[in-house]
Amino acid sequence: MDKRKVIKAALLGLGTVGGGVYKLAARLKDEMVYKTGAELEISKILVRSLGKKREGVDPALLTDSWREILEDPEISLVIELMGGIEPARTYVTEALKAGKNVVTANKDLLAEHGGELLNLAQEHGCDLMFEAAVAGAIPIIRALKQGLSGGLITEVAGIVNGTTNYILTKMSEIGMDYEDALAIAMEKGYAEADPTADVEGHDAGRKIAIMASIAFNSRVTFSQVYTEGITKITAKDIRYAKDFGYVIKLLGIAKKDEDGIVVKVHPMLLPEDHPLASVRNSFNAVFLHGEACDDAMFMGRGAGEMPTASAVMGDVIDVMGNVVHGCCGRMGCTCYKNLPVKGEESTYSKFFLRIQVKDRPGALANISGVLGNNNVSIAQVYQKKSENGIAELMIITDRVLERNFNDSLAIISGMSAMKEISSVIRVY
Ligand SMILES: NC(=O)c1ccc[n+]([C@@H]2O[C@H](COP(=O)([O-])OP(=O)(O)OC[C@H]3O[C@@H](n4cnc5c(N)ncnc54)[C@H](OP(=O)(O)O)[C@@H]3O)[C@@H](O)[C@H]2O)c1
Repeated sequence: MDKRKVIKAALLGLGTVGGGVYKLAARLKDEMVYKTGAELEISKILVRSLGKKREGVDPALLTDSWREILEDPEISLVIELMGGIEPARTYVTEALKAGKNVVTANKDLLAEHGGELLNLAQEHGCDLMFEAAVAGAIPIIRALKQGLSGGLITEVAGIVNGTTNYILTKMSEIGMDYEDALAIAMEKGYAEADPTADVEGHDAGRKIAIMASIAFNSRVTFSQVYTEGITKITAKDIRYAKDFGYVIKLLGIAKKDEDGIVVKVHPMLLPEDHPLASVRNSFNAVFLHGEACDDAMFMGRGAGEMPTASAVMGDVIDVMGNVVHGCCGRMGCTCYKNLPVKGEESTYSKFFLRIQVKDRPGALANISGVLGNNNVSIAQVYQKKSENGIAELMIITDRVLERNFNDSLAIISGMSAMKEISSVIRVY
C-alpha cells in the first residue's frame, strides 16, 4: 500500500455541514490512510463571502471562484455542501464532466436531478455519492443500493424530518399545541426561521423521492410526491389517537405493487407497537419491508453538523478507496424500470375522521350511510357525549380507495347536521 498517495478535494460550502466535514476530515486524517490507501487533502474551499470569520480554517484555502476549483487538474473530488438547486447543479455537472468525483448532501438537487447527474457520473467514469442527503447519519442509501438490493423491497416508510418529529413528540408527551411546540423547536435550533419546508412535508418529500427511486429502481421526482404537513394536527387529535392505540407521526411512505408506486408524505396514525412509533424527538428512522428481507429498521440522527459530516465522510472514504483502486463510476443510476407513480384514483388508505355534528336523531346513521354508499366501510367508531347540542364523532375506516373516501367527505361536509370536519388523518 502506497501511504503517500494524496487525493486532493475541494469543499463547496463551509456552513453547518461543510464546517463539520472540515473538522471530521482532520480527526480522521491518519485513519483514512489505512482505510483507503491514500491521504485526503482539502486543498480549496468555495464560499460565498470571503470576508466571513471562520475559526480554525486556513484562510489561504478559501476562494469564491468555482472556476479556480474546476480548472485545477489536481482536484479529483468535489464535496458539494452548499445546498439548493443552482448553482449546485451547474457545479456538480461541470465537475463530473471534468472527470471529478462528487460527494453531496444536497437532497433538493438529488430529488429533482438525480437521474441526469447519476447518468453523467457513469458516462464520465466518476462516483456521485449522496448518503448524507437522506436521514443524515443513517446509511440508508447504501443499505438500499447494496445490502438490501436483493431484498425485493415493497415498502419504505420513514420518519425523515427531525423538526416535525420533535414537534409531534412534544405535542404527544406534554400535550402542547402545534404553535407552542414549533416555538420550542425554533428556540432549540431544530426548526429554521422559515419552517415551511419541514412542517409542510417538503423536506421529507425530497427524501422519500430519493429512497423510492433506489428501492424500486424507478425514478420518482419530488414533484410526483403528494405532500401534506403537520400544521393542522392538534393536541386533541393526538389524545384521541392515543385512546385508539395509535401515535401520530409524519411519515414519508412509498409502496410498490404490480401496477405502480405510491409515494406520499403525510401525518399518519401509527399503531403503538409499530417500530417507528417509538422514535422520539429529533431522531430519524426508516422502516423497510421486502418480500425477501422481511422487516428492517434503521434509526439515528438525521441532521446536525457531525451526524451529517459522518455520512459525508463515509462517502468520501468510499470514493477515495475507488480512486486508489481505479474503479470509480461502478454504480450509476439504478432506475432501470419505469413504474408509474399512482394518483388518488388508485391509492388505498385507512382514515381517521373527526367531525362535529349537531346532536340530532339519525345523524350518525346518515353519515355511515354516505360512507357505505361510497364503499367506505367503518372499522371503529366512537361518539363523545354531546355538549351544547354538538356531538364529536371519531371514525376509523377500513382500507378504502382514497377517491371514494374523498367523495363521501364532500357529501358529508354538505349535510345539514354537519358543523365541522375537524380532522382527516391517514392510518397505517
Ligand atoms: N444542516 C444539516 O443538518 C443538514 C443535514 C443533511 C443535509 N444537509 C444538506 O447539506 C447542505 C448544506 O447545508 P448546511 O446546513 O451546511 O448549509 P449552510 O450552513 O447554509 O452552509 C452553506 C454554505 O455554502 C456556501 N454557499 C452557499 N451558496 C453558495 C454559492 N452560491 N457560492 C459559494 N458558496 C455558497 C455558504 O457560504 P458562506 O459561508 O460564505 O455563506 C456556506 O458556507 C444542504 O444541501 C443541506 O440540505 C444539511
